[in-house]
Amino acid sequence: MNVGIIGSGGREHAICYLLNKSKKVSKIFCFPGNAGTNLIAQNVNLNTDNFPELERYCLRKDIKMLVVGPEKPLVNGIVDHFKGKSIRVFGPDKISSKLEGSKIFTKKICQKKNIPTSKFKICENLTETIDYLKNSYFPIVIKADGLASGKGVYICKNFNEAKVAAKEIFNGKFGFAEQILIEEFLDGEEMSYFIVTDGKNYKFFGSAQDHKRVGEGDTGKNTGGMGCYSPSRLLNDALELKIKKKIIEPTLNAINEHGGVYKGFLYIGLMIKNDEPFLIEFNVRMGDPECQTILPTLNTDLMNIFISCCDGTLNQSKINFSKFKSICIVLCSKGYPEKFDNNIEIEDLEQLKLLENQNIFHAGTLKTKTGIISNGGRVLSFVSTSDDFLKCRNEAINLIKKLNWKNGYFRADIGNKVIKI
Ligand code: AMP
Ligand code: GLY
Repeated sequence: MNVGIIGSGGREHAICYLLNKSKKVSKIFCFPGNAGTNLIAQNVNLNTDNFPELERYCLRKDIKMLVVGPEKPLVNGIVDHFKGKSIRVFGPDKISSKLEGSKIFTKKICQKKNIPTSKFKICENLTETIDYLKNSYFPIVIKADGLASGKGVYICKNFNEAKVAAKEIFNGKFGFAEQILIEEFLDGEEMSYFIVTDGKNYKFFGSAQDHKRVGEGDTGKNTGGMGCYSPSRLLNDALELKIKKKIIEPTLNAINEHGGVYKGFLYIGLMIKNDEPFLIEFNVRMGDPECQTILPTLNTDLMNIFISCCDGTLNQSKINFSKFKSICIVLCSKGYPEKFDNNIEIEDLEQLKLLENQNIFHAGTLKTKTGIISNGGRVLSFVSTSDDFLKCRNEAINLIKKLNWKNGYFRADIGNKVIKI
């Protein structure tokens, strides 16, 4: 079967790499892909926001399945566009995607289903927000309701910071804002838990801890993710049961009650305190770099998983992961997440020899006539799996050092919570 993958990051290269190993996959098309996917798939430049155009291309190339990496096409209803047509789309429909597309929608589900999450208040305008903030405890969290490329969350230490955040949101920094979400600040340790579902049944799809801050020791600005380790040190059977019974199952039931069909990955972002899970957010896709970290430990044909989710037969298939630990370190452009230069050549990348337990997934890379150049903040994901986290990290760092890219920056402390040296 010919398959299309939407997206251009490390997550999509990892998905492409695994699909390329499946006997069920003939040819892969990436919309638009990167220099890494270009080696094993055909990269296609096409406006994927234009669903009819994408559909015409798929029909021409006999693409029978689309896998959606990022959230935007899902929130915009790509699954609904292809409903009843000959092209399957792996991902949740528009109603289900509101779990990421509207933080207020999710909070209302939490309220209705008694899902553990931070206390919250929805405000309709700046005056109401300021009045509420005057009687609040700090720190407090202010959030824009809709998609904001990870930038719509403000952790505010005091009243003034909160006021600035609220003003920015109501002034339209993330698009027209009818409402704002104010949340109690949760402390604890964060964990990401993943499932895959066919709308009726769901299965575990890994756990991880991301490192969002740019600097070592979790300092500096927030990024899309500087690295990740899997499995999370926090996960145990009792906690997992609570996550399923108190968070996942009530949420999937609520989606059904709203008339949605959730097929695809669900990313459950949690704060864990005293072995109790609190929902921070849902994402309706795999995480990046969590996907690059988890997929190399998957022992099941990924294409079979996608097919069984689309066809509603997930209960008949088994998903197996190896017992290995995994670490992913992101090599980014110096200056990221602020100003950085693009178009810097990455020499010798194709000459780097990898062992079977090692992967390099591309993100912000571009193939030119003369070689590979950078074209993004997060450029390459170095992944190593083994029975020991320190070994994983050392291998990933050694590969980065061998590459010796002059414009690169990475955190050498990924996995510090599970590596004590
Ligand atoms: P979100 O986009 O909702 O995941 O928020 C981004 C990040 O902000 C999360 O990964 C947390 O680190 C932090 N965060 C969001 N909400 C809260 C909260 N209520 N309490 C503490 N930290 C939060
Ligand atoms: N690594 C965080 C995310 O994918 O949203």
